[in-house]
Amino acid sequence: MSSKNLRIGIIGAGRIGIVHSGSVADTPGAEIAIIADAVEESAAKLAGQYGVKHTTDVSEIFKSGDVDAIIVGSPTPTHVDLISRAVDAGIHVMCEKPVDLDINNALTIKEKVANAKTNVSIAFNRRFDPNFAAVHARYKAGEIGRLQQLVLTSRDPAPPPRAYIAVSGGIFRDQAIHDFDIARFFVGDIAEVSTFASNEVVADAKAEGDFDTAITNLRSVNGELVTIINTRYASYGYDQRVEAFGEKGMLIGNNLTSTMVTSFNANGADQRDAYMPFFLERYAASYRKELQLFIESIQTGKQLNPTYEDGCKALIIADAATESAKSGQVVKVKN
Ligand SMILES: NC(=O)c1ccc[n+]([C@@H]2O[C@H](COP(=O)([O-])OP(=O)(O)OC[C@H]3O[C@@H](n4cnc5c(N)ncnc54)[C@H](O)[C@@H]3O)[C@@H](O)[C@H]2O)c1
Repeated sequence: MSSKNLRIGIIGAGRIGIVHSGSVADTPGAEIAIIADAVEESAAKLAGQYGVKHTTDVSEIFKSGDVDAIIVGSPTPTHVDLISRAVDAGIHVMCEKPVDLDINNALTIKEKVANAKTNVSIAFNRRFDPNFAAVHARYKAGEIGRLQQLVLTSRDPAPPPRAYIAVSGGIFRDQAIHDFDIARFFVGDIAEVSTFASNEVVADAKAEGDFDTAITNLRSVNGELVTIINTRYASYGYDQRVEAFGEKGMLIGNNLTSTMVTSFNANGADQRDAYMPFFLERYAASYRKELQLFIESIQTGKQLNPTYEDGCKALIIADAATESAKSGQVVKVKN
């Protein structure tokens, strides 16, 4: 390993920490410096895979002087504190979404992050998905003219366990927040939010006072309209699509299947392979791309989007959607 590599500390050795560790190990110009997890066994297991140090004490990362950047993949309630400590220590951060479950807590470090000398980026990876990014780039290049309607479909293949739902902050802060960020990626700041939601399919969601099904309409400050379709369960798999409709045409980013083979036989026509199982597979390319751009942004000294402020704005929309779903009212967003 070269000493010129960016030395990255991974915090959280769970589902997403494992993904980010794999990306760092595969990316030229970066290396894993240390892996931290509250559970020693988890930290040791992942660190062992890459032959690197591990710890259960994150403060080791901040005082070691051996770490240039951290990737935060620990549970959401740890994010604000870890970002704050990294900024104090002069360490770059890429932190998982959402920034927090409580916008007031997230806003306590907004100024500090805005004035940070290091790069603080929120890992809304869908911006870096090749299909979403291509639809966005072609729209921005003028292919469909003025955007009138953006439709985002985001359905999970299976609901999370009840214990996860209980601490998730609800479907809007946990799942739909990715879509709120993609909406802002396309149309900028949001002015109004109106949501209908129900919970007749996933019993655990109902038991926790959460929703399993939602349709959210957004109006941007510039007047574009966005519809976001979310469910916690889709019988046919992970359904992730984007449709951008404008005065000169439409761009659609479709679901990915494992091959592009289409089969025709006595059982049916036009049959394709199943959709990618879930986010780890469907968005694999996006996790690698976001890391590559994070590294480049540190090398060039340019702040990578999405920023901490983007993270806060997506959370504000999630709060508005939660409020609208409960009250039945249109909620205005303060930007
Ligand atoms: N961008 C995405 O596609 C994506 C996907 C999944 C999860 N996430 C986000 O990543 C975060 C983690 O989710 P996950 O699904 O990987 O969870 P997980 O439960 O699989 O992993 C979290 C890990 O963090 C460890 N941990 C707990 N408290 C800690 C602490 N104080 N310090 C260090 N480690 C600690 C746990 O022991 C566990 O190993 C959440 O904020 C989630 O919203 C993002």
